Amino acid sequence: MNTTIDIKITQTSTSKLSTTDFDNLQFGQTISDHMFIADFKDGEWTDFRVEPYAPLMLNPANATLHYGQSVFEGMKAYKSKAGETLIFRADANQKRLNNSAKRLCIPEVPEDLFMEGLKKLLEIDNEWIPNRAGYSLYIRPFVFATDDYLGIRPSNKYKFIIFTCPVGHYYAKPVTVKVETAYSRACEGGTGFAKAAGNYAGSLYPASLVQKQGYDQLLWTDSKSHQNIEESGTMNIMFVINDTLFTAPLTTSTILAGITRDSVLTLAREMGMNVEERFVTVTELEDALHSGQLKEAFGTGTAATIAHISLINVNEEDYHLPEKPKDSFSYKILEELDAIKYGKKEDTHGWIMKL
Ligand code: COI
Repeated sequence: MNTTIDIKITQTSTSKLSTTDFDNLQFGQTISDHMFIADFKDGEWTDFRVEPYAPLMLNPANATLHYGQSVFEGMKAYKSKAGETLIFRADANQKRLNNSAKRLCIPEVPEDLFMEGLKKLLEIDNEWIPNRAGYSLYIRPFVFATDDYLGIRPSNKYKFIIFTCPVGHYYAKPVTVKVETAYSRACEGGTGFAKAAGNYAGSLYPASLVQKQGYDQLLWTDSKSHQNIEESGTMNIMFVINDTLFTAPLTTSTILAGITRDSVLTLAREMGMNVEERFVTVTELEDALHSGQLKEAFGTGTAATIAHISLINVNEEDYHLPEKPKDSFSYKILEELDAIKYGKKEDTHGWIMKL
């Protein structure tokens, strides 16, 4: 798909660039000047435009507000030392957006629309991409229903929007987690594999309960036996037990096919690490914590990249994990990933799209 789509550009007359404090970026609070928008109506995507970032007008009967027909993505762009704009695995995000969309009866966003809209937006807001180590431009593409209709059926109209936020680290320090055995994030046959807005809404209450007990996040278990560990908060979860890297498989429709998850597994295999995509059970985790065989635990996600876990609560017992030395697997893999993302290392996997 190499067609060029026609995008109408309206530039802001009041850029926030010069008044933005790039030294104090809270994740998702600072939003760049522009957004890309496309509308879906009469069975096709139309009216492609870049406009100043601004509130949307929605009717109170908007279908998304009531029934949650909405899916989103999270991706990042980086600045290399030479000043090039490097976008990490945009093709994978475009495909995953459409996998999610299909599950929610949302029309797919064609590859050329996604890529050209993204590139035009990043061209216009290029100066919003931070050019320092550890910083990046978080990109939020999303699609939501715009019919004003209270009956239950897939909407006929949608909006596809991309906006961006300059960001630093998502977690300022290693995270503490608690194994959750009452609530679940997802069930087989449900929407857990999709990046559906409602999945995140449903996770807030259980997360708030563990946060009241002093933990940062929870470790989700499956909805039937509450024995299989599925994800952590909004991230995929990985464990290093002895010399093997474990993470949940993508076979149950309950696990988000994380792009950082896939990148870590690819690099781990190339580094010669044993990798097993299978569920670690709560009992196995508890045994590995007791015996000291659990060497490392970390979450993976676009926002957090790799979030080291410093404490796990299982069956009301807190287990502390050692500080991550520079020779730990997660430290090495983070360095490797960052080297590729910032263009310090050759991109042998075809993961980087240059603007
Ligand atoms: C991401 O890592 O992009 C996510 O989706 C997490 C987000 C909910 C903050």
